[in-house]
Amino acid sequence: MGERIVSVAVDGPAGSGKSTISKLAAKILGFEYIDTGAMYRALTLKVLNKGLNPQKPEEVVSLLKDTDIDFVDNHIYLDGEMVDETIRQNIISQNVSYIAAIKEVREAMVRIQQNLAKAKSIIMDGRDIITVVLPDADFKIFVTASVEERSRRRYKELLEKGETNITLEQIMKDIERRDYIDSNREIAPLVRTEGSYLLDTTNNTIDESVNFIVSLVKRGL
Ligand code: DC
Repeated sequence: MGERIVSVAVDGPAGSGKSTISKLAAKILGFEYIDTGAMYRALTLKVLNKGLNPQKPEEVVSLLKDTDIDFVDNHIYLDGEMVDETIRQNIISQNVSYIAAIKEVREAMVRIQQNLAKAKSIIMDGRDIITVVLPDADFKIFVTASVEERSRRRYKELLEKGETNITLEQIMKDIERRDYIDSNREIAPLVRTEGSYLLDTTNNTIDESVNFIVSLVKRGL
């Protein structure tokens, strides 16, 4: 393969399993995994920590120029501090869609993401990776699963983290609300485009989904 830089773009809704399977597939293929949702979450964390209102774009945009968001060895850093865990809190999930709908925020994140993809072989996942960030990616995969299954997965994740004051019904409502915002926003909505492979993980084991991506990439190289 020599020095060829390979890009795998993965889009899909919350809880589709895209992060879990992209991370594992990246490990097998020896690629870096870039979780772009984590970048929007990191900015949301900063907005909330500063006591700003995520629903007021002007307040959020004012933070951008003094904010440093980066990936180093699969860890997400906000202004030099590793925030892998803090960005997974439910309070962040509830507010991140507002942040991700802001044009200036998206422009800044897309720039960082495109630079990361130029530097090395990556699997990058998000909502607009195929449509906006890496339209010329070598491999494009749209990952999905039923709303019920996606809610069950998120619920289990939160329980495992000790967040017990939430019901499955609340999670399902929140996922449906986020799906709606992510798919209907004006800029870079989540859509499946022609020319991407569809991977429905509803009835798959994690291994089956990982194998789908790994085989696809290995066949295509
Ligand atoms: O995948 P996730 O739940 O960590 O994503 C967090 C939020 O960020 C989600 O509401 C959608 C948004 N997002 C986005 O708009 N574009 C991306 N490339 C990745 C995530």
